[in-house]
Amino acid sequence: MYALTVLFGLMAAASASKPLRYTVPNNFKAVASNCTLPAEFVVTNFTTSTNKNGTLDTVCFQFSDPDTEIRTTCQRNSTSVASGPSKNRYGCDNANIAFIYQTTGIAGLTLTERACPGGSSPQFEASGLITPELNCTDTPTGTICHTEQKSLQGDFNSFQPIPSKAPIRRHRGTWRG
Ligand SMILES: *[C@@H]1O[C@H](CO)[C@@H](O)[C@H](O)[C@H]1NC(C)=O
Ligand SMILES: *[C@@H]1O[C@H](CO)[C@@H](O)[C@H](O)[C@H]1NC(C)=O
Ligand SMILES: *[C@@H]1O[C@H](CO)[C@@H](O)[C@H](O)[C@H]1NC(C)=O
Ligand SMILES: *[C@@H]1O[C@H](CO)[C@@H](O)[C@H](O)[C@H]1NC(C)=O
Ligand SMILES: *[C@@H]1O[C@H](CO)[C@@H](O)[C@H](O)[C@H]1NC(C)=O
Repeated sequence: MYALTVLFGLMAAASASKPLRYTVPNNFKAVASNCTLPAEFVVTNFTTSTNKNGTLDTVCFQFSDPDTEIRTTCQRNSTSVASGPSKNRYGCDNANIAFIYQTTGIAGLTLTERACPGGSSPQFEASGLITPELNCTDTPTGTICHTEQKSLQGDFNSFQPIPSKAPIRRHRGTWRG
């Protein structure tokens, strides 16, 4: 199964730096033949801060994709608005990139990258999960954590239609990490 996935990945996009770890759907292959698909990503300077109550206040890191050459800052803070079906996605400065960070459920940092942005429908995104190992320090207002490694490499291993835009609730939700 894994070998098949890799084979399809190679057929779909030979330009990526490494074999894709997902299968490109037939209805996207024509579009994909014309662009570089997301294969892997690097997260740098991952930092979180948590208040005294244990509620996650901020998440901040730099994202880069060596193949599509997208580099952007991803940040969640008190003014961020969550989106997505589970209201847990946060956008990065580059609108093609979004992330979910949670310490329960699918714990870890999930990155999503829109495939072949700018194209017409159907719209797909690649996603992948990494689990940062955090080094935390107590501060007077809570806890600040950063990854022990400066940068973490991840693979995109899922390729799904982009979730339809759910209505955005215009209030600041508290988010328990
Ligand atoms: C591929 O890109 C070329 C040049 O931008 C364009 O003319 C062509 O229609 C594209 N093909 C597909 C299948 O998107
Ligand atoms: C990570 O942080 C260090 C210092 O805090 C900075 O010099 C470096 O440029 C940052 N890396 C990225 C990719 O922004
Ligand atoms: C902790 O929670 C209480 C009640 O929800 C709130 O009043 C207080 O401001 C919170 N403290 C911090 C540091 O967030
Ligand atoms: C909060 O995050 C947004 C990006 O999501 C950023 O533009 C803004 O400057 C941040 N605010 C603070 C106070 O850091
Ligand atoms: C954790 O962070 C502290 C303070 O920045 C540092 O002294 C320590 O070496 C770090 N530990 C690890 C395992 O990275």
